[in-house]
Amino acid sequence: MSTEYIRIEKSQPLSGIAQLAGAKNAVLVIMASLLLTEGKNKLTNVPFSEDIRHMIRLLEMLGAVVEVDKDMGTLVIDTTLISSFRVPVEIMKRMRASILVMGSLLARFGKAEVALPGGCSIGERPIDYHLKAFSKMGATFSTSNEYIHCNADKLRPITHILDYPSVGATENIIMGTALLKGTTRIINASVEPEVLDLIEVLNKMGAHIRVLAPATIEIEGVSSLEPIDHQIMYDRLEAGSLLLAAAITGGELSLPDAPARSMTVFLSLLEEMGHSITLGDNNTGVHIQATQEPRAVSFKTMPYPGFPTDLQAPMMAALCLASGKSVIHETVFENRLVHVRELQKMGAQISIEGQTATIVGVDELYGAAVIASDIRAGAALVLAGLAAHGHTTMTGVHHLKRGYDAIVPKLASLGGRISTQFEE
Ligand code: EPU
Repeated sequence: MSTEYIRIEKSQPLSGIAQLAGAKNAVLVIMASLLLTEGKNKLTNVPFSEDIRHMIRLLEMLGAVVEVDKDMGTLVIDTTLISSFRVPVEIMKRMRASILVMGSLLARFGKAEVALPGGCSIGERPIDYHLKAFSKMGATFSTSNEYIHCNADKLRPITHILDYPSVGATENIIMGTALLKGTTRIINASVEPEVLDLIEVLNKMGAHIRVLAPATIEIEGVSSLEPIDHQIMYDRLEAGSLLLAAAITGGELSLPDAPARSMTVFLSLLEEMGHSITLGDNNTGVHIQATQEPRAVSFKTMPYPGFPTDLQAPMMAALCLASGKSVIHETVFENRLVHVRELQKMGAQISIEGQTATIVGVDELYGAAVIASDIRAGAALVLAGLAAHGHTTMTGVHHLKRGYDAIVPKLASLGGRISTQFEE
């Protein structure tokens, strides 16, 4: 069998205009929410990254009929014949986000069987917040043969305080209660833009869901939900990764679709590094003119509106070449600094203590053979490769492909010397 790898050479400053894909983390949960309807739903601006393909497969296994138009970025998902409430082990192993169908299945069937999610390379990632909320509503759980069996014949609406604003738990509770008579309140809810896109979709279906500042979500149950047409929001994480590709190569890039409104903290850090950022009208669209003398900046990752954990690794790659000392504290996941070892192979000066990485900027990075261990680590190594002398080969490409649709040709079209290769 041949091994796929990405070959990257030191590139000229990236420049041009790039079109963004739809947001992977919004599509995944919105696809799960369609199980609350019976009929034909249409999603546009869909990226066809690997995780989306897994979610298509999962919905098909549950009984959905899915029509894919890759060229148009469109999915038509008919949920009329959904007949199964079991998420098989092989799908759960491939994509942890499969857990997101639990709430919809509970709402539709009063039960769900979900394979137990294991840990993954970015940490243990338990689902206790999801289970605690549903237990409080009256669901019962038992486990056997790698499955959690959830039974929810008599769910009741609750006011629930999340111990932590978990994205997935917030989404599952919203989907699990949209059809539940009475008012459910989630306090300390996640208000990530992708959660808000899910709420927009559910309200289009006929749900009554409100977000109360700063972080309470109120769900007034309705008796039925109708199929919808929806254009997925643009991917702020792909936008951030591309802006950093321009930043690390000293280039200039326009992203006319970038959802700048939801990127404030990230964009202000780019400015603090010395890059010049201009926003489009109505906070849509971002233009970066990179500085040739980037400065170190420090930050910690936080739930929205804080600095997103999903941009921590790509930002770290850029800081490896910024003058001075940057300190990054990862607070969201307990094992999301694995890319440090790979960046060190390329000459980066980084030390780790617990969840904190200290980066002392160097003048040059050097190409090396590196391995991507998760989606965002893959993005970080690609960025480092674009700025490193010589050439870099990155394996673990499947991780990158789970979250980014056609990122290699996109970077190449902006001047990146990057290509996908296969070795026998
Ligand atoms: N957590 C628990 N118990 C739970 C749920 C979460 O302890 O029941 C912990 C997790 O272990 C983690 C923290 O809470 O340490 C945050 O997890 P959260 O539930 O918020 O994350 P998630 O829903 O599993 C989504 C994205 C991730 C993104 C995080 C944080 C999807 C499909 N995934 O994961 O995306 O990093 O929110 O913003 O929406 C990525 O795109 O690369 C990615 C990993």
